Amino acid sequence: MGDSSTDSFSLKTAFEERKQMKRDELVAVFDQWAKDGKYEKDMSFIGNKGVDIVTRAASDHFSTNKDVVSVIDIAAGTGLASQALLKLGFSIIDGIDPSQGMKDEAMKKNIYRDYVVDFVDGHKTVLETDKYDCSVVSGGFSQSLMPCNALYEITRIVKPEFFNEVELCI
Ligand SMILES: C[S@@+](CC[C@H](N)C(=O)[O-])C[C@H]1O[C@@H](n2cnc3c(N)ncnc32)[C@H](O)[C@@H]1O
Repeated sequence: MGDSSTDSFSLKTAFEERKQMKRDELVAVFDQWAKDGKYEKDMSFIGNKGVDIVTRAASDHFSTNKDVVSVIDIAAGTGLASQALLKLGFSIIDGIDPSQGMKDEAMKKNIYRDYVVDFVDGHKTVLETDKYDCSVVSGGFSQSLMPCNALYEITRIVKPEFFNEVELCI
């Protein structure tokens, strides 16, 4: 996955490879993939519809006062969804992702108030209960990545009356 050249990048192959991996191996792959813009080149090659889907939905939901809406970008990666949110008028944006390499790339963009390195799954992260008005997940519920029970954590950290926008990769 991380070693493929952009011209031959295949999501199908990447998904097959992931099925055999342990959690730390998977994170190592994302750490490598993030380097030197490789992940973003591959995403631009295959097209990352998830970013558009979740950020437009969030933008439609919060049609006014986006600048006071706090958003958590889950499985934030290199920050592609957060960048799109910023362009749409959101400004209070945090991220969470288990890959330090992805975070390192994301932090170069000066988007984030905070970016936590952790998995989102069944366990309780350091993020406070009811901290956010909105969550977005683009590409996080993909092959072998976030398990369904991540939804428990997502609903814990987002205020009950607020908004979760999840793009499912099927
Ligand atoms: C395909 S990338 C999506 C990144 C970004 N949201 C985007 O749309 O470009 C998937 C991301 O999920 C992260 N990830 C993998 N397992 C995760 C988990 N259990 N919880 C949160 N993020 C996870 C990876 O580190 C990677 O950055």
